[in-house]
Amino acid sequence: MSVKEPSKHKSNQPRTIAITGGKGGVGKTSVALNLALTLARQNKRVLLLDGDTDLANVSIMVGLYPQKTLANVMAGECRLEDTLLEAEYGLHIVPGASGVQECMDMSPDDSLRILRALSQLESRYDYVITDTAAGLQASGLHMIAAAELACIVVTPDPASLTDAFSLMKVMKRRGYKRVPSILVNMAQGASQARSVFQRLDAAAQRHLGEGFHYLGGIWRDETLRQSVLNQHPVALLPVGDPSCRQFHTLADMLDVRLSQLPRRKAGIAAYWHSVSRKQGNVQPQKRAPKPLSVRERCMNAISELESILAQSPDNGLLRYEAFTRLFALLGGTVDSDTVEIIQTGLGAMRWESLSGERKAHLAEHLRHLADEIHPVRPVDVQAPVHETMVSEPVYDRISFGEQDQLLQALKAQPADISLDQLLKSLAGDRGSGHG
Ligand SMILES: Nc1ncnc2c1ncn2[C@@H]1O[C@H](COP(=O)(O)OP(=O)(O)O)[C@@H](O)[C@H]1O
Ligand SMILES: [Mg+2]
Repeated sequence: MSVKEPSKHKSNQPRTIAITGGKGGVGKTSVALNLALTLARQNKRVLLLDGDTDLANVSIMVGLYPQKTLANVMAGECRLEDTLLEAEYGLHIVPGASGVQECMDMSPDDSLRILRALSQLESRYDYVITDTAAGLQASGLHMIAAAELACIVVTPDPASLTDAFSLMKVMKRRGYKRVPSILVNMAQGASQARSVFQRLDAAAQRHLGEGFHYLGGIWRDETLRQSVLNQHPVALLPVGDPSCRQFHTLADMLDVRLSQLPRRKAGIAAYWHSVSRKQGNVQPQKRAPKPLSVRERCMNAISELESILAQSPDNGLLRYEAFTRLFALLGGTVDSDTVEIIQTGLGAMRWESLSGERKAHLAEHLRHLADEIHPVRPVDVQAPVHETMVSEPVYDRISFGEQDQLLQALKAQPADISLDQLLKSLAGDRGSGHG
């Protein structure tokens, strides 16, 4: 595919933005594409890196079908420029950009060849926007780290919030220092978007010690949804159209935010180059390996986990099990963050599609975890008695034994027994052969 060179040839560093989010279906691709088209419409030179591994990717949404992708470039079959697709307003798209991760497995010479080409390409644009894959896949995390600004797309759905939270938590663990922006998609209005943001922000302040930046909201919009099916993005509608206009507002908000951030000296290719150098440096050393610290071992386990999960993003059970094993490794303490991460794992799981046996297995797991959570609930000895009394009803296992046994025992009681007698018989007489 041949594509016009962007008109001006001024060599500079583009502003780099990663559109990301913990969960699939929150609208990352729709936002990335419409934002990129809107900026292109405003005469900006825009490159959109399609790092989504989903089938509903950027190119499909504009009705373009890539002949060549980054994989062909890596195989030496074509140049990076040959993969470029040109959409309306001269927006350029690199299909299959998630493959950049695989450059790390190539020989240093080969990966350098590709990263140099990417670096030269980048320098011709004002904006480089990456649409990342869902979830905590390693390539997605790198794409966030590579960009100046991470824009995390969430929806009012609580599962998307816990996912965003987990994403940030993993990024922080990996040493991410910047403050990501939150875009609330599919909001019912400005006040809902705000309150969704505030919930997430408060959780992050509390548990991660740092909050987020609010980039804005995009409304739940039937025109936008239809536009995906019609392969005619809303950013192509007349500027006065409300569906189109909100992306102009978003573009304005983005520029305000970017103006507050220090310009990076290097772009996305440079980031990947530094990653490949780090990996490359490890191999040739033949010194005896230093024993790893607990923290390093956990970090390794986490990245292993991520790479396994990346291969089967839909395997919710695997994801869940891997997480629980990791918690065991971390010492088995279930704090409130852990609970949030478990919720995330559960949220991502397709419960309906599990077999009966797997469901039972999982239920067993959950019960186990629930038992662990119970003891860490803080007991505030200072609190006045009535407050501790009004807490959620808790089943008293010590007095009454396991719930299913209790149920059996209840069924075995004569119908005319008084409540008082019933309780006494259960508490004192448990297991003595009722029924
Ligand atoms: N603001 C919105 N209002 C209504 N539907 C939306 C909105 N944003 C996205 N969608 C729809 O949600 C679905 C998932 O969007 P997509 O951009 O593919 O998400 P992701 O890339 O996060 O998986 C698509 O059908 C899209 O049309
Ligand atoms: Mg997508």
